[in-house]
Amino acid sequence: MDKYTLIQRIHQLKKEKGAVILAHHYQVEEVKEVADIIGDSLELSRKAREVKAKTIVLSGVHFMAESVKVLSPDKKVLLPVRDAGCPMADMIDEEKLESFKSEHPNGKVVCYVNTSAEVKAKSDICCTSSNALSVVDSMGADPVLFIPDQNLGNYVKQHSKNNNVIPYEGYCITHHRARKEDAIKAKGKHPEGKFLAHPECRQEVLEEADFIGSTTAIINYAKDSNSKTFIIGTEMGVVESLKKQLPNKNFFLLAPSFICSNMKKTRLKDVYRALKEEEHEIHLEEQTRNKAEKALSNMLAVSI
Ligand code: 13P
Ligand code: SF4
Repeated sequence: MDKYTLIQRIHQLKKEKGAVILAHHYQVEEVKEVADIIGDSLELSRKAREVKAKTIVLSGVHFMAESVKVLSPDKKVLLPVRDAGCPMADMIDEEKLESFKSEHPNGKVVCYVNTSAEVKAKSDICCTSSNALSVVDSMGADPVLFIPDQNLGNYVKQHSKNNNVIPYEGYCITHHRARKEDAIKAKGKHPEGKFLAHPECRQEVLEEADFIGSTTAIINYAKDSNSKTFIIGTEMGVVESLKKQLPNKNFFLLAPSFICSNMKKTRLKDVYRALKEEEHEIHLEEQTRNKAEKALSNMLAVSI
């Protein structure tokens, strides 16, 4: 089937089945083109709760589809590619979390949204890169066990009013790959450019940045800034979104390796198949879902 026919069929199936497609900014362009909502992880988890559709196709990775199911248990949530996962989310499971907690018995667990529903269920509150600082600021005096991203955890520890933060050892294989030399090289090539970085990058990279923020914060910064040139220190899908939204500005990816292969697994044909065959449906055990919902709702209450 050619691209044009696939797009037609997807729109037809969406209507027939009362479905919506939510896509993360890191998805390939052809998938973002058929999406009803494009966003970062915080926006997607909020919007998923608001939409009236019975069926949600989540074009992203596994933990994102699980978060949608946690917040919208009565909806059918479909992940087009079963093995589109997040290696950082897989760096912590229930057992590893229990052992981390036992090292810090008074600790309160703040879990990045990039975690499984089981891990969320055993956490006190969730956060995303947009609201990690407000979430940690809202915590009391007990140590904050920040899981799983060491880079976001260290960033929060440095910038929060609460410096009693103990980050776990996980990291994003895509963002952690970038080094200080990449930033220096890119800034040398585009000296007029503003360097915008995601807090999943190493500290040595963040130290070179003019602005640090989540996917949406980076997009908004580029929209509002008077500068015409930007070096983007996050996944290449954000550069593609920016080029489309701001055709009169120039965007350069910090390093060619800034590609999340899991986010790129989903293609138009997968979205079509997901809608047609209603696969792969996310199922969660009710007790796990309930507890994970509490952690996510605690986050949404802080970050309004
Ligand atoms: P955002 O929270 O900025 O959408 O990031 C999600 C993610 O997976 C970053 O690598
Ligand atoms: Fe996970 Fe990193 Fe990919 Fe985001 S970019 S989904 S954190 S591996």
